[in-house]
Amino acid sequence: MSEILEILGCEHPLTIGAMAHIGSSDLGIPVIQAGFGFCMTMIKANTDRDEWVTNEVNKIKKASDSNFGLNILMADNPRIKEDVELIIKMKPRFVTLSAVLRPPTSNIKALHDAGIYVGILVGSARFTQLCIKVLGKDGIKPDFFIAEGNNSGGHLGPEDTDTLLKEVIPVAKKHNIAIGIAGGISDFSKASNAFSAGADFIQIGSWAAVSKESPAHPDYKERVFKSSETIVTAARFRHPVRALKSPFTEKLYEMENNPNMNWERFSEFARGSVPRGLLNGDWETGTMLCGTCCKDIKSEKSITEIGNSLISGNSN
Ligand SMILES: Cc1cc2nc3c(=O)[nH]c(=O)nc-3n(C[C@H](O)[C@H](O)[C@H](O)COP(=O)(O)O)c2cc1C
Repeated sequence: MSEILEILGCEHPLTIGAMAHIGSSDLGIPVIQAGFGFCMTMIKANTDRDEWVTNEVNKIKKASDSNFGLNILMADNPRIKEDVELIIKMKPRFVTLSAVLRPPTSNIKALHDAGIYVGILVGSARFTQLCIKVLGKDGIKPDFFIAEGNNSGGHLGPEDTDTLLKEVIPVAKKHNIAIGIAGGISDFSKASNAFSAGADFIQIGSWAAVSKESPAHPDYKERVFKSSETIVTAARFRHPVRALKSPFTEKLYEMENNPNMNWERFSEFARGSVPRGLLNGDWETGTMLCGTCCKDIKSEKSITEIGNSLISGNSN
């Protein structure tokens, strides 16, 4: 088994990235059993966070020998310390840190001391270099990076996947750190392109969000199959999020571009719209997170079919 597969605890070089509200054990167990990597979310609307995470992790552990990851969304997260403490209790194989604004030295150290591998989501070569430099001063090296292009669903970095392929992979390789690529990887040729450029693994989100095993609402899945356009909202407030274009997300876009609008009022208006979109299938007031690859995703498939077709070009 290659080193990165050992870190991610899977057979094939493909992970399903964390997905707020829907990246639970329902999705995780079939993903892990199919031999792919799985990163569980710790964000689920209307639940007690610790109780929900503990229950979900226990279900995954029963099915998988702890071959799972957990994700911390770092930006605007007032509970990072508590997240790290909960993760150390849960003993996942790996953790991914996303929406990272500055190199998270002390958090990585605490996770490493607990024997947990750590990967950092990066959106540019510059930030990747900064992480290596700043963490290196304290003798810390991340176990892997995931370069996530801004064509992906959810929170976004500054660059697209093609740019990251060219610019981030050489930085990670130079420092001997494993690197995954995410964002718009919707077919075998895009996956092959990432591997040819030197990626150690690929990560997907949108495809898995609409898989047969995903607990997302059927109306969300239908909207993804029928959509070909996405929109980025909240970029003005430096919280860019990509979702399906809809009257609601267009309204968000219009609101944020009103010069009199501020982050407090905007975020108050948008609050709860992501779980409404993903879990209730609410087109009128929901934000249906999805990447630009919605244009290539036209029907529901199982995780095994999706994963195999990306890795081998053959869905069986
Ligand atoms: C519905 C949805 C929710 C997501 N939520 C998160 C999240 O909570 N944390 C995170 O790091 N990434 C999140 N992502 C990003 C994915 O983990 C993954 O990196 C990304 O979707 C890959 O790009 P793709 O959608 O083009 O496949 C989300 C993506 C989607 C589609």
